[in-house]
Amino acid sequence: MKVPFGDMKLHYHSYKSQIDQAVHRVLESGHYILGSELEKFEANFEKFLGSGYVAGCASGTEAIYLALAAAGVSAGDEVLVVAHTAVPTISAISMTGATPVFVDIDPDTCLMNVDLVERKITEKTKAIVPVHLYGQMVDMEPLLKIAAQHKIMVLEDCAQSTGATYKGAIAGTLGDYGAFSFYPSKNLGAFGDGGAVSTNSRENFDKLVMLRNYGQSKRYYHDIVGINSRLDEMQAAILDAQLPYVGKWNERRREIARRYNQGLEGIVKTPVEEEGRKHVYHLYVIQTENREELQEYLLDKGIQTLIHYPNPAHLQKAYGYLGYKPGSLPQTEKVVKRILSLPMHPGLTDEQVDAVIEAISNFCREHQSSKSSAKVTANSIS
Ligand SMILES: Cc1ncc(COP(=O)(O)O)c(C=O)c1O
Repeated sequence: MKVPFGDMKLHYHSYKSQIDQAVHRVLESGHYILGSELEKFEANFEKFLGSGYVAGCASGTEAIYLALAAAGVSAGDEVLVVAHTAVPTISAISMTGATPVFVDIDPDTCLMNVDLVERKITEKTKAIVPVHLYGQMVDMEPLLKIAAQHKIMVLEDCAQSTGATYKGAIAGTLGDYGAFSFYPSKNLGAFGDGGAVSTNSRENFDKLVMLRNYGQSKRYYHDIVGINSRLDEMQAAILDAQLPYVGKWNERRREIARRYNQGLEGIVKTPVEEEGRKHVYHLYVIQTENREELQEYLLDKGIQTLIHYPNPAHLQKAYGYLGYKPGSLPQTEKVVKRILSLPMHPGLTDEQVDAVIEAISNFCREHQSSKSSAKVTANSIS
């Protein structure tokens, strides 16, 4: 059975009438940038979050950049973050001129190890960026306490965690800012690029709205230095048409994760969902010693898997100037060799999930028996 990693075309065809209607409405309106569709989506996304303000922007990368810029982060500042993330988290920090400072992760959750944060704080630390990777939130309570004690701003990278919660609070409402990506495959995805910044402060929101639109307070009056990072009307309308389904899609992702968990228990290391946190499984990531062989075996059976992410930011060529070396972040470096993301999207069928479970079980059984027969041969020679 073929099991693709994701299926955007299937997704489009499942919601074709809602999406087509949104697209046609915008085309017919003759208004394509900063209009009523964006206002409607921002208002509905604020309701989805349950508090605060939302400013749409052009991508998740720029959402992170805009939030940091709004908080005044600039050259000479340090920003604490993990190296185990999509590199755009780090690119956005670099865009401000600030220096990313990497904190190692907890190998079970693959998230920032909050116990290691305080020792990385210096007088230059201006922000902490907890990345709610794979769909699970970072341990925010102790992190917010540390940030408050040191008067450091917190920006949640919610790109992979739309709808996730921590002790009942939804991602993007706990820090000073939350940054969302609406890249097509995300839990809420546009049909192109898109992003948003959430904040609980009206003052922050006003600044974000200026920053995303050339720094203008009104047309042709530029009060601050800004950029062009707007969520266009087409993407806003498409996102708004899909927003009512995000809760249902996240529940389906959780159902699939439970099925994987049951089928793979004791066979590979399955994802850890911490108590009090609702994981929304943007990605379902297992850990195994034989990652490359397993990936090849699955591909041979028509099952597509990916690695998020094989090369951590601190060892990327672009960040060589920061001076990190292999061994700098031991847990990150250990985990990236073991992780494998299995197919995960709300359109997956139970039969497809079972086919993945069966193939992994067969691989592990075959691998185990070839390992033990190799041992027997070695023993009989000695
Ligand atoms: C954790 C994380 N942060 C930031 C981004 C950047 O988002 P975008 O691709 O919308 O710029 C992504 C998406 O790839 C991501 O997964």
